Amino acid sequence: MQNLIKESQRIYQLFIQNGPKYLDTFDYQPLTKYTIEALQTKSLQEYINNNLTMNQEISMLPIQFQPDNSFAFAIFTLAPKITMPLHDHPDMFVLSYVLYGEGIREGWNIKQSDLNKVNSFKNTTVKQDVIVEAEELPSLNLKTGDICYTTPNMCNLHSFINNSFTKPFVFLDIIVPHYDENTNRKITYFQREKDNRLKLIQQDEL
Ligand SMILES: [Fe+2]
Repeated sequence: MQNLIKESQRIYQLFIQNGPKYLDTFDYQPLTKYTIEALQTKSLQEYINNNLTMNQEISMLPIQFQPDNSFAFAIFTLAPKITMPLHDHPDMFVLSYVLYGEGIREGWNIKQSDLNKVNSFKNTTVKQDVIVEAEELPSLNLKTGDICYTTPNMCNLHSFINNSFTKPFVFLDIIVPHYDENTNRKITYFQREKDNRLKLIQQDEL
């Protein structure tokens, strides 16, 4: 776990120095290696075994959260037939490692010229319908041990779907940096409309 924490701190520092573009181009193999290494440690395995629950449709088990939101590690569990709604990770990097089950990741990139619409939606309290154009990326079929990535400019919007009738779908997210209400790193949810258009929605409308 220490290597994973150190590497996340290093990536965060370089993100602060170089901006979000850094997160599109850095070598994420060391972070991947340290994630797998951490998952092989007995202490983390025991913590997961003792605390993972499936009481809600979507459950979150915190592993490591930094008070300054520089990074966060958390495990998400989707109960059978549950979809995690389409959401964004503005200026963030996310590694998702599948711990159990099978699921589908749908990914989207918002058209560059429509990004300002998302930013103004995040920063205003009066909400009216906002629609953006986006490109849908090929869906990924994920199974235990598979890894997928999200960066500021690659698959920044994603949704996870558990199509199983019986089994949960469980994945670990390594998030650098984390959401932060004091920056532009605020979450927005989206709903698919016709013709590759996405409607922005509020969390309380979900
Ligand atoms: Fe996400």
